[in-house]
Amino acid sequence: MDLVAFRSALLAWYDAEARDLPWRVRPAARGAGVRPDPYAVWLSEVMLQQTTVPHAAPYWQAFLQRWPTVADLAAAEDAEVMAAWAGLGYYARARNLLRCARAVAGEHGGALPDSYDRLRALPGLGDYTAAAVAAIAFDRPATVVDGNVERVIARVFAVEAPLPASKPELKRLAGEVTDITRPGDWAQAMMDLGATICTPRAPKCLLCPLTAHCAARRGDPELYPRKAPKRERPRRYGAVYVLTRGGETALVRRPGHGLLGGMLGLPTTEWRDRAWSLDEAVAVAPTAADWRQAGRVEHLFTHFALSLLVLRAEGDADAAWTRDLSVLPSVFLKAARVGQGALL
Ligand code: ADE
Ligand code: SF4
Repeated sequence: MDLVAFRSALLAWYDAEARDLPWRVRPAARGAGVRPDPYAVWLSEVMLQQTTVPHAAPYWQAFLQRWPTVADLAAAEDAEVMAAWAGLGYYARARNLLRCARAVAGEHGGALPDSYDRLRALPGLGDYTAAAVAAIAFDRPATVVDGNVERVIARVFAVEAPLPASKPELKRLAGEVTDITRPGDWAQAMMDLGATICTPRAPKCLLCPLTAHCAARRGDPELYPRKAPKRERPRRYGAVYVLTRGGETALVRRPGHGLLGGMLGLPTTEWRDRAWSLDEAVAVAPTAADWRQAGRVEHLFTHFALSLLVLRAEGDADAAWTRDLSVLPSVFLKAARVGQGALL
């Protein structure tokens, strides 16, 4: 690998092709010494871990308008920040954002620290974000690796080891090729290349500045990054009972241990390795009723796939009756919908 040629090819491409992103200082301006607001960079990077550029942009704008500095964000009510985050998903990120803003306001005088190590030491600020802010906001050499960068590196070096085990190797290689003279531009160039040229499907190798340096280019780039074959999950079977009384559904509190332990749910049989027939399920039903087969529900848990036979009946029982199914874990919500669909 000719690192000098590799680096200058990517940076020359970025100088010409950098995307216009609302939080971005373009390479010409950066070259003239302009730096982005670290708070604005941090906010954009946290949001972009969650969603796409077009979806994140209005949120980013709204946050900055409402809370223009870290101190403003730190002083905000939790509920207001969570409400402003709604639509971006994964609320733990918003909570971490706030926790981190308060630490910055309290311990760093409201200014984000300007090194990877001190950023990484903040509560709720992870490896990716620390590296991205260090590089983009402060031009500190840092290895910024997201999914786009992993893909580019896996292809350039035709890394045969599969993800996720190859992550450390991909990160090491990404670090080796990083141009430390322009860390902020480098990080963004790698991400832009992955987002626009070296795409997961049908990469545009003919337009790619790295084509002369790319090992995967000689074969089929789409084979990279290699992925470990998905482990086949064992399948388990159960039957689930949807008993209705007018518009209400009978729920039970599940035993306090194990999967779904302590949660409200629908009554079920035990889960076993063999499918349940309708007759078998009726024989062990928790309530005597005119049970009919309503359909099936498939649900993936981390360690197994569950296939449920859904039985439904109208009747009465000693149970927790509810009209509000939103309290149910999603496997039971799906079953309840199948059961009620059979009513129509
Ligand atoms: N994806 C996440 N952060 C990005 C950035 N700063 N530039 C381009 N793509 C990104
Ligand atoms: Fe990706 Fe093709 Fe460029 Fe290689 S040559 S980095 S596979 S776009």
